[in-house]
Amino acid sequence: YVEVDEREKAPHYEQRKWEEEQMSSAVFRFGARDKEKIHEKGQEYDLVLDDEIEFIQALRMPGSKPDQEDENEPKLTESEKKKVSLQETRRSLPIFPFRDDLIQAIEKHQVLIIEGETGSGKTTQIPQYLYEAGFTRGGKKIGCTQPRRVAAMSVSARVAQEMGVKLGNEVGYSIRFEDCTSERTVIKYMTDGTLHREFLSEPDLQSYSVMIIDEAHERTLHTDILFGLVKDITRFRPDLKLLISSATLDAQKFSDFFDEAPIFRIPGRRYPVDIYYTKAPEADYIDACVVSVLQIHATQPLGDILVFLTGQEEIETCQELLQERSRRLGSKIRELLILPVYSNLPSDMQARIFHPTPRNARKVVLATNIAETSLTIDNIIYVIDPGFCKQNSFNSRTGMESLIVVPISKASANQRAGRAGRVAAGKCFRLYTAWAYKHELEDNTVPEIQRINLGNAVLTLKALGIDDLVHFDFLDPPPLETLVLALEQLYALGALNHHGELTKLGRRMAEFPVDPMMAKMILASEKYKCSEEILTIAAMLSVNGAIFYRPKDKTVHADAARHSFFTPGGDHLMLLNIYTQWADSDFSTQWCYENFLQHRSLKRARDVRDQLAGLMARVEIDLVSAAGDTVGIRKAITAGYFYHVARLSKGGQYKTVKHQQTVMIHPNSSMFEDLPRWVIYHELKFTTKEFLCQVIEIESKWLLEVAPHYYKPHVLEDSTNKKMPKMTGKS
Ligand code: CDP
Ligand code: MG
Repeated sequence: YVEVDEREKAPHYEQRKWEEEQMSSAVFRFGARDKEKIHEKGQEYDLVLDDEIEFIQALRMPGSKPDQEDENEPKLTESEKKKVSLQETRRSLPIFPFRDDLIQAIEKHQVLIIEGETGSGKTTQIPQYLYEAGFTRGGKKIGCTQPRRVAAMSVSARVAQEMGVKLGNEVGYSIRFEDCTSERTVIKYMTDGTLHREFLSEPDLQSYSVMIIDEAHERTLHTDILFGLVKDITRFRPDLKLLISSATLDAQKFSDFFDEAPIFRIPGRRYPVDIYYTKAPEADYIDACVVSVLQIHATQPLGDILVFLTGQEEIETCQELLQERSRRLGSKIRELLILPVYSNLPSDMQARIFHPTPRNARKVVLATNIAETSLTIDNIIYVIDPGFCKQNSFNSRTGMESLIVVPISKASANQRAGRAGRVAAGKCFRLYTAWAYKHELEDNTVPEIQRINLGNAVLTLKALGIDDLVHFDFLDPPPLETLVLALEQLYALGALNHHGELTKLGRRMAEFPVDPMMAKMILASEKYKCSEEILTIAAMLSVNGAIFYRPKDKTVHADAARHSFFTPGGDHLMLLNIYTQWADSDFSTQWCYENFLQHRSLKRARDVRDQLAGLMARVEIDLVSAAGDTVGIRKAITAGYFYHVARLSKGGQYKTVKHQQTVMIHPNSSMFEDLPRWVIYHELKFTTKEFLCQVIEIESKWLLEVAPHYYKPHVLEDSTNKKMPKMTGKS
């Protein structure tokens, strides 16, 4: 084999076999006749797989003999491959033999739980089967929810392709701030959040004949709330079919929740996966990933690699390191295609991960959690799992929300490993010890509803007329204190009155698909006569991709460009400044390029802004400009975000007013060197420390003006007695 110079640095692995119990329950040996049962109340069917299907699969399955390198590669030539039509591919999916049984079961039962391994074809095929079976007759739609935007977009594109229609016509998708559907759309993919909001305009989902709550095992907040909402609807809409589809073993729990709905199990074909653990914990898992990829590439038979990282930043770092080191190895190694995938990646880039790997090359996909179950990438033989993911979490005691990197659960670790065994026997390299797996990882991931802020969800539920949230039909109820806190916050924002009923302001706030604080800020812009500016700021804050572009070889220029946008008053005003200048350049791409800004992010901000402007018309607020009055703008922001106030304390640190938590302004903020006495922050991020991100300077007396019911003057008195140079002045 080729000598890789990083060898000595390579993590030391020890091999462990795929756990015994998983072998017995989940592994279906290739060629064996798979038997599976539909479990119904008292009734059982035997379903038998067609051997011919297996044969077609064998032809399509590159890498089914990973020990012999060359037979690993696709057996079909390019031209032959084209002949294997999409239809044939559809027929080769594990779900295909169950098509008729599935349709029958759906016809017979109003609610059906569908369980099947990732990649068996649930998401892409079931809506098509239903369509073919006539479920869209009479102008009704088939809806299918996805927890992730990327999945909704990429899956609908795939289905449109399989059906030979243009995306947005018969098959479409709808995600927050983006609706790609039309009058003709009969199969509609959407995020769970989007469906949640659709209830506001169509509480009985009258336009749908079937609703599929897909990837139910992900247990996102919106999916969990949808469970309660759709369960309620099935009672008064007997004609609505409800499918709950899940990749893992929660099926029984879903069945129990949905009044003992039958479970339809699609047998997966999972090949054995050898698990390797590191002997000692890895200090730098990014580096360990890079080295492991190169190791695999240099020593293992062909087959693609999937690496699980926690977010865009890590993915980009890893990508750069890999590119650099594989370039150094030059022709000593085969071609290595490095493909990132994360939710903010533009869709054309995302599509690249599905393109077949060229002969004699290897693909390495650097992905977030999204590749755990939402997206299936074919031909993955090797998985590298550092054991972390990014998770929203909310501390109801301190009211702090944060996005933090946490260890994954055992269930996640096994899902990740399973990605390696979909087309052939695979290998999973865990960058943690067997001991850590056993003793440190939780069994299951805590459902989002039990760990995040419920402000937005509670507002939407209230707007749906669901007043008694404590007794709402939750699959797993949120902690009472989180619920109470959300109610308190909505009350403080003025969205609820003291009876807990939605106010006129609350009703208007619910129109906006954003956090209640942002909704309040937007609505407050009416009073402060700065709706034009606030909309821009809201849109810029909503773009969760990076605004600035900072290539490694041009950091000095990039930083200088960033500094040139600094605006007195703080980051929100800087974002406004950037957008305004971009608009003045006639939304020029070139201008973005010259100023080290991500054109794509700005473009998205523009789309979001347009959407928000439409909603402003709905709530009858005119767009007016503050014409340079930044006090009004900052007061409107304060009216929404008065929960997020911090005050300067010792040594350049801040303390949050409400919970006295010690925090710092993020070094990337334009306020990092200013250190104003009072600030409002948009987000609190935990990385190495607790950092305030997107910060503006305010005056404490504004808090009494915008939230007199919430702030008492004595809290805002300055007890430090230290005169800071930049206390007022800008107002
Ligand atoms: O939902 P489930 O995990 O059961 O499977 P699926 O998402 O319907 O995927 C079925 C097949 O479609 C897989 O082999 C995927 O590789 C393929 N697919 C694709 O090629 N492109 C997509 N955007 C989505 C799925
Ligand atoms: Mg799926």
